[in-house]
Amino acid sequence: MQLIDTHTHLYVEAFDKDRDEMIERALEIGVSDFFVPAIDSTYTEGMFALESQYPDQVHLMTGVHPTHIKNNYREELAHVSSLLKSRSFCAVGEIGIDLYWDKIFIKEQQEAFDIQIQWAKDHKLPIVIHCRDAFDEVFEVLEGHKSEELYGIFHCFTGTVEQAKQALSYNLKLGIGGVVTFKNGKIDQFLNKIPLSKIVLETDSPYLAPIPNRGKRNESSYIKQVAEKVAAIYDLTVEQVAEQTTKNAFEVFKLI
Ligand code: NI
Repeated sequence: MQLIDTHTHLYVEAFDKDRDEMIERALEIGVSDFFVPAIDSTYTEGMFALESQYPDQVHLMTGVHPTHIKNNYREELAHVSSLLKSRSFCAVGEIGIDLYWDKIFIKEQQEAFDIQIQWAKDHKLPIVIHCRDAFDEVFEVLEGHKSEELYGIFHCFTGTVEQAKQALSYNLKLGIGGVVTFKNGKIDQFLNKIPLSKIVLETDSPYLAPIPNRGKRNESSYIKQVAEKVAAIYDLTVEQVAEQTTKNAFEVFKLI
């Protein structure tokens, strides 16, 4: 069985003590590829180091995470812009709007999201969206970019069926992770109304561990619990879910 973790922060401090063992556990259960979203410039070196250690398995994105859009956001954006000119990436991400923590930088978040979507289109890359308490704001920016060139993943999708359908209308697939296993996660109630061809699996590790590890550190090998829950929701075998979602992930990241 082949599985793809389309969203994993392998390079963060939470894995500093056992990163190789953690990656090994994922490889052992069949995770063949790790798609690694950026946060800000402080992590760039660590991401490059990880890529040189696992060149066939690790695929890097570049971008500024919305919760890291602060007073220095122009310098952070300039860093992403120069990286995009200097080498290849699998996507621009994670980018978006997050109004959960505070709304102080809402204007800057909207502007940075808009700018980074345009860069993705210019480089013919997919986008990976982070949206928290900001569906209307995210959709407003996406609406302005609606076109054939706009595509990617709505990461950690936690909205309603209507919001899911709206996300699909922008040529996005839904990133489904640990939340689907939560009792109060809600998306399990309607997910089977969305074609499986529109779903990719992710962990968002080290965050949002699925049941039975909810609240603990997440890691890419736990994608198996996500795949099993998705299989139960769609009334399919876990192998069928693995096969289809792997195909979907490779389609987005153009690795077919
Ligand atoms: Ni993330």
